[in-house]
This record gives sequence, C-alpha cells and structure tokens, in this order.
Amino acid sequence: MAVDTQKATKVAIVTGASSGMGREFARQLAKSDEVEEIWLIARRRERLEELARELPCATKIMCEDLTSASDMDHIAAELSKQKPNVTYLVSAAGFGKFGTWDTIPVQDNDAMIDLNCKAMVHITTIVLPYMRRGSHVLEIVSCSAFTPLPHLNVYAASKAFMQSYVRALRWEVRGRGVCVTAVCPGWVKTEFMQTAEKTGHDVRHYLGAQKPQTVVRRSLLANKCHFAIATCGIGAFVLRILGKFIPHCITMAGWAGVRRL
Ligand SMILES: NC(=O)c1ccc[n+]([C@@H]2O[C@H](COP(=O)([O-])OP(=O)(O)OC[C@H]3O[C@@H](n4cnc5c(N)ncnc54)[C@H](OP(=O)(O)O)[C@@H]3O)[C@@H](O)[C@H]2O)c1
Repeated sequence: MAVDTQKATKVAIVTGASSGMGREFARQLAKSDEVEEIWLIARRRERLEELARELPCATKIMCEDLTSASDMDHIAAELSKQKPNVTYLVSAAGFGKFGTWDTIPVQDNDAMIDLNCKAMVHITTIVLPYMRRGSHVLEIVSCSAFTPLPHLNVYAASKAFMQSYVRALRWEVRGRGVCVTAVCPGWVKTEFMQTAEKTGHDVRHYLGAQKPQTVVRRSLLANKCHFAIATCGIGAFVLRILGKFIPHCITMAGWAGVRRL
C-alpha cells in the first residue's frame, strides 16, 4: 500500500543518529541531492541538536525510544501528518552485549531483541508506504549474522534474524523499485564497544576495526549497486563466505580463538 507523496519533501529517516554509524549516515546523506530534509531519531536530544547544527540541510529532531510503542506511534503519526517522500531509510539504532546466557541480564537480552529485531521491522513497515521507485532502505545488521557466536549469542541471533528479513523483504518490494540492503560490517569504531563491555570483557581486541566514514560510504555505494548484502571490508566478506560453506561448529571454534587474541 503506497501513500501519494507526489511533490512532497524528499526526506531521509535515520535511526541511531546520535552516534556512530547513524550519525555518519546523516552527515553523508546531507550532501545528497536526493535528500532535502533529514529526520534524526534517537533518545539523546542534545546529541541530535548538536548534529542538526552541523548539517547543511533541514532537519527534524525526533527524540524517541524505539522500544516504546507510544514513541513508535508518534513517528507513525508524523509520517501520516506530513506525508513525506522518504528517499532513504537508515535503521542504525541497535546494540549488543558481551557475555553468556548466565552473565547477560534477561532485561538486556529482551531489550536487544526489541530494538535490533522488533523495532527495525516496525519502522521499516511504517515507512515503506512513503517510499517511491528509486528509494533506498539500509538496515544496519552485522557480520555476526553469518554464524552463531558464543559470548555474543543473542546479539548475533538478532542480526541473523534481520539478515533473513532483509533478503525476503527485497523480493517483496522488488516491483516497487525500492532497493533494500543489509549492511553487515565487522568491527566499527563507535560507541558500540562501550555499551557491549558493560556486561563483560569477552572480546579482547577489535581486529580490523574500520572507521564509520568508510563503512557508510561503502554501504551507500553497495545499496546504489542494488547489493543485498554490504560487508564493507575484507574481514566481514571472508566471514560471509566461511559462514556459507563451513559448518557452524568450525566457525564457532575459530571465533573462540579470535576472541582471545
Ligand atoms: N560498531 C560495530 O562494531 C558494529 C559492527 C556491526 C554492526 N553494528 C551495528 O550497527 C548499528 C549501529 O551501531 P553503532 O556501531 O553506530 O553503535 P553506537 O555508536 O552505540 O550507536 C547506536 C545508536 O543506537 C541508538 N539507540 C540505542 N538504543 C536506542 C533506543 N532504544 N531507541 C532509539 N535509539 C536507540 C543510540 O542512540 P541513543 O542512545 O541516543 O538512543 C545510538 O545513536 C547497530 O545496530 C549495531 O549492532 C555495529
């Protein structure tokens, strides 16, 4: 079901815009001629205001918790009121926690599933009716989607769910000309690690960690080339291949070694 958005403002919606990859997506999309206004979504208002001041295009600050049903309803209401032509949806709100089944609190596991899976699917579903032919959806997943990962178990499982969702969604929206990409990088230098380490220091080094600028630039290019998956770097690409052809017990054993380096 598509909403008539002829002559509407060209809007990019970016979740997780207060830090890391979301913030960098907003910076790079602000230079695009496909974007006239950016809706910046996250919980930390001051961070969003700071970013809005630096961007060269119009912005709308939406201070929302994406795990709250009423905040989601607020976003749906804004869409229905303004009827924008959404040219980009970037879902970058998400987090992970290091630890095992008995060290990560049950509330953290629930919150990870709520944000990484439920909220991503929800926002995609409410935004898609405002997208036209040539629009772009980038769901920020992770290379942890390619294999189960002990000590990042629920996080990796949530990302595997999103990878599967994106692949099938691409088929469903093919006729509408909307290009959907799952962005699956390896480690990226953001606040992700700070949040993940609050429940454990199960990973010692972030091998091959990339700059968010590089990952975002490559993701946007991959999406323009209609790729289903954007790995954005050699490490994640290798893991993608291994995850496809090597039994999971072997990739998990490899991860057990890499984690301790
Ligand atoms: N960094 C990595 O190594 C890496 C690798 C692969 C994939 N990823 C994925 O990339 C995505 C972006 O992460 P990042 O690396 O950029 O981490 P980050 O710097 O910690 O950014 C996470 C963003 O999510 C927002 N967020 C968290 N909880 C939220 C909630 N309940 N409602 C709304 N927004 C919320 C945060 O904003 P507020 O706190 O202001 O709400 C923040 O803007 C995540 O899905 C992550 O899993 C990260």
